[in-house]
Order: sequence, then C-alpha cells, then structure tokens
Amino acid sequence: MNKVQLNICLTSYPTESELPEAEQELMEAARRATRKSYAPYSNFHVGAAVLLEDGTVFTAGNQENAAFPSGSCAEQSVIYWVGANYPDKLIKSIAVVARPGLGGPGRDGPGLGGPGQQEEYKPVSPCGACRQSLLEYEHRQRQPIRLLMMQPDGGVIVSESISNLLPVKFDADDLRG
Ligand code: THU
Repeated sequence: MNKVQLNICLTSYPTESELPEAEQELMEAARRATRKSYAPYSNFHVGAAVLLEDGTVFTAGNQENAAFPSGSCAEQSVIYWVGANYPDKLIKSIAVVARPGLGGPGRDGPGLGGPGQQEEYKPVSPCGACRQSLLEYEHRQRQPIRLLMMQPDGGVIVSESISNLLPVKFDADDLRG
C-alpha cells in the first residue's frame, strides 16, 4: 500500500488592491450581485461575477425555491447563463462573495424574496456541485479559470484553476472509453 499526498497551491493576496484592476472590479461586482440574490429560505445571499477574456462581466445571485433542491447557487446561475449565451467566449475569472442577512435562516420570510439588511460581506468558497459545474467550463474551454474568494481580513484567496479545488476530479475525459 502506498499513500499518495496531493498538494494544492493557492495564492493569497493580503488586500484586494493587489489584484489586477479588472479583478478588483470583479470582486465589487460580486458584492453588488448579492443584491440579485433571491434567498428567502436561507437568508444567505451569495453573489458571483464572471470576467470574460474580452473584459465583459456578468453576475448572478443565488436563486432559491420552496422545493429546496430546485434552487440554484450563484456560481451555477452565472456560469450556466454565460455558457448558454456566450458559448464561444473564454472565461478568465470568477469571484464569489456572501452577504448573510440579519437574523439567520428564514428571516426574510418565504415568498418575500427581499435581501436581508446586513451590509457585511462574508467569505464563501464554492460548494461541491458548483466546483463540478465550473470545472465543466474550464474543461470545455481548455483554459484555466481563476477563482477569487474573499477573505474575512479583506484579502483574497485565488485558485489559478477550478481543478485545483477538485484534485481527484471527474470530467469529460472520464467518459471516453
Ligand atoms: N450557495 C451559493 O449560492 N453558492 C455556494 O457556493 C454555497 C451556497 C447558496 C445556496 C443557498 O441558496 C444558500 O447559499 C445557502 O446554502
């Protein structure tokens, strides 16, 4: 028996101002996108922003549903929208940020849909399903997508590729015989 140790390499930026300018704006766009979130059940408002190689930015917030599994995370909402509308454009980076509402889950009340009032942003890293969804587009374009995750101290952790966060991954190559 052999043990295999896998290492992943992430880059830590102590402040957002050390990011390239387009990505500083991307972080801000992700924060703004928390206001597009529809999260009356979790009251956890997530914003995701995608930067295309041509400089265009698209954003989305998480979209929840009374039948809980039918909802969509912010990252999946934005990446599927980009994939559906700009299938030939290269995706450079994605930024993700959370803004929990006041009072915790349910505070907004089902059906109201208004974002919570809290202005404080919180770090969030993509859930497993989002990582898999993002990996698909990285694989499709055969070029890494940078993932930017806000940190509690105002810094940013950057993964140079999505596959970094799914080291033992399943992708289209595994479907080939
Ligand atoms: N959520 C996201 O939008 N992205 C993630 O990566 C983690 C979770 C959403 C899903 C749900 O609407 C709420 O956050 C609470 O889990």
